[in-house]
Amino acid sequence: MKLVSTIRELRERIAADCPALVPTMGALHAGHGRLIETSVRENPTTAVSIFVNPTQFNNPADLANYPRTLDADLALCESLGADIVFAPSVDEMYPRPQRAFVDVERVTKHLEGAFRPGHFRGVATVVMKLFQIFEPRRAYFGEKDYQQLAMIRRMVEDLNVPVEIVGVPTVREPDGLALSSRNRLLDAEHRRAAPQLYRALLLAAENIAEGERDSARIKCAALASLADPLIRVDYLEIVDPVWVEPVSIVDGPVRIALAAYLGPVRLIDNVAV
Ligand code: PAJ
Repeated sequence: MKLVSTIRELRERIAADCPALVPTMGALHAGHGRLIETSVRENPTTAVSIFVNPTQFNNPADLANYPRTLDADLALCESLGADIVFAPSVDEMYPRPQRAFVDVERVTKHLEGAFRPGHFRGVATVVMKLFQIFEPRRAYFGEKDYQQLAMIRRMVEDLNVPVEIVGVPTVREPDGLALSSRNRLLDAEHRRAAPQLYRALLLAAENIAEGERDSARIKCAALASLADPLIRVDYLEIVDPVWVEPVSIVDGPVRIALAAYLGPVRLIDNVAV
């Protein structure tokens, strides 16, 4: 496996074969691992990018506290058969103040878009930069960040980017907690409370399976199950899977998504129904 930190060297290396790309911010866990494994299985060459992208952090403390574990990340990439890791510095990715941005409308309006102003513009812009740097034929994204995945799909369609976006199901701990780089910031008490997030999503999904169609009632019951002083919910929403817009009546496939603070740590999760 080759570690590369400059765009120039990367372009020289990949000139011959466009690798499939797995974009990450590092602090890799088995969720990222699933993306890398899937890509390695499905493509002759896989590249992993590791870049904690400052422009997508709307909260400076979140950026400062974001875990960074490059040595362990490289070992995991190597063990899973990745061919190249691209780990650029902030200066390499943003040598000048960035003046061109990608904004994906509508799909970014609710949920994370509403609670994290500027976040998706930062994500779309850095992912587009990575797509221009790598020119991958395929790129892998997790369903764990469902709205991000929906936004990237829309972005490549609307801007005619010749890349196939592959979505990978969420990897969870045995107790249901979705794997996240931020989980390692949870203290023991909040870690014990964290599986309630997934249980609330499952409760909502069960209500729908039993025939409930009224979003307000489904949300109310799910939120009531999260009445724990250790958990502060930002939102729990039932949205359509394409535009990620809240629905008031469930009459087709939906995603149930939530975001919540456990102490200072903000976690998101979602399930399909
Ligand atoms: P990051 O949070 O590091 O996630 C990288 C990729 O791993 C994303 O596509 C995310 O959805 C996926 N992922 C995270 N946890 C997962 C889990 N438990 N199961 C399956 N997949 C999981 O998302 C980002 O970085 C950034 O926004 C990025 C796209 C790299 C742009 O900076």
